[in-house]
Amino acid sequence: MEENGGTKEETPDITAPKATQAKNFLAPLTIFSFILSLPVLALVIWLLYMKDYDCEILLRLPRLRIGIGIWMIFVFLISNAVVFCRSRFPMPGLVAVMVPLLVMLIMGLALVGVSRTESRAIPASPMWLKLKIHDNNNWNNIKSCIYDTHICDDLVSRTSSLKSYDFSLKKLSSIESGCCKPPTSCVMEYVNATFWEKEEDEATDKSYPYDRDCESWNNDQSRLCYNCYSCRQGFLTTLQRKWTRLGIFLVVMAILLVIAHLLLFVATMWERYKD
Ligand SMILES: *[C@@H]1O[C@H](CO)[C@@H](O)[C@H](O)[C@H]1NC(C)=O
Repeated sequence: MEENGGTKEETPDITAPKATQAKNFLAPLTIFSFILSLPVLALVIWLLYMKDYDCEILLRLPRLRIGIGIWMIFVFLISNAVVFCRSRFPMPGLVAVMVPLLVMLIMGLALVGVSRTESRAIPASPMWLKLKIHDNNNWNNIKSCIYDTHICDDLVSRTSSLKSYDFSLKKLSSIESGCCKPPTSCVMEYVNATFWEKEEDEATDKSYPYDRDCESWNNDQSRLCYNCYSCRQGFLTTLQRKWTRLGIFLVVMAILLVIAHLLLFVATMWERYKD
């Protein structure tokens, strides 16, 4: 029905072929814009119902996540409102949808960390995460939080049947490999995932540079490699990867929606003023 909206108020149209052309173009565009907004809705559900990544709460990130979720609901509603009312208010509709999409684009670019120096002020940007995690006060809390999640206990019980070689082939998450076991460069002998013996002979592998983490490693289950640099790095990598992905998604969706709305606007105007 909305396809007729634009032509209704105008005089009956004689240039029928052109009009049908515009209409042929408009209907798929409308459907396309609507379909494009569905991943945004899916993201909302993911953002609002996702379990917090363990220990992320210490950096107050869940609040940001909910904020982005609410913004996406807004984008979803306004995008579809504009799609379905475009024939009545094409110009105000375009402006109304472009502003939130622009905000979404900027938010995504910040999360991806395009501007390295400025983005340290923006929560969850790669630089911001790095600064937070390298802050020792934060790190002490995160460290004990990681310990409390029993991630290393789970790793041991999951891999208890594995021999040294099979364990070395196993794919570990960056937190598991950073916090639960000594770095590979320490050339320690595997007993189980969280118990490693120092090789007695002085045959240390000279091909690796000296790693302070090898000193930090302790077989005490409450210490393991939680004091290692590799553990911080593993936690940082996990968070950065997650937030960068979210950023990329926001950028891509914002660009696609901007293109869809511009095309829709052009098609609507063309249909209106074609003669
Ligand atoms: C890992 O090996 C050590 C040393 O043999 C042992 O004390 C510890 O209980 C083992 N851990 C598990 C979970 O099997």
